[in-house]
Amino acid sequence: MPENLVFYQSKYGATEQYAAWLEEMISCDVKELSESLPRNLKDYRNIVIAGGIYNGEVTGREFLKRNMEALKGHRVAVLAVGLEEFYKGMTESLWLYQFKEFEIDVEVFYARGEYNYKNLTFFDRMTIRTGNVIFRRKIKRGSRERINILRDRMTAYDWKSESYLEPLVEWMDSG
Ligand SMILES: Cc1cc2nc3c(=O)[nH]c(=O)nc-3n(C[C@H](O)[C@H](O)[C@H](O)COP(=O)(O)O)c2cc1C
Repeated sequence: MPENLVFYQSKYGATEQYAAWLEEMISCDVKELSESLPRNLKDYRNIVIAGGIYNGEVTGREFLKRNMEALKGHRVAVLAVGLEEFYKGMTESLWLYQFKEFEIDVEVFYARGEYNYKNLTFFDRMTIRTGNVIFRRKIKRGSRERINILRDRMTAYDWKSESYLEPLVEWMDSG
């Protein structure tokens, strides 16, 4: 049995692709985040939670919080999929703002996903339009690129690449 369990949630397909690539790259069982924890959880050494970043929050954060007790004793990692270009310190800052308070150690990895305004749900379009008004007033350093992409209604961006998974696979192998 593989020692690795990957939970994922994907709204527009980017994280789903990364989960499929992970399955090819390393021996692992893959489940959707909506599924409950398996009874044989203790058989897995590494648990990976993969999901998109939406409005600054990593999908799966709530899942981790809810299942914190059960996950104690496992090695836990998060794969955050977003639209920003990777920069040095990015995973550290995601950890600092989202997982620092957690009682368990969470290792954070990042993969760049995809973005196509034309595919968005009505609700997401509204979030971005109203969000833009707020963003314009207080643009934080480093987020200008994100805002420009979110506002772009013409381009179908796709940055997905298996190479983003290499550090995560290394981490899974090392445990
Ligand atoms: C409403 C909305 C908000 C988003 N907010 C962020 C964000 O705060 N930071 C980021 O890096 N990406 C953000 N994104 C981009 C998604 O994280 C990106 O498209 C990712 O590939 C989605 O993965 P998924 O399709 O597996 O859910 C946002 C996308 C939408 C539609």
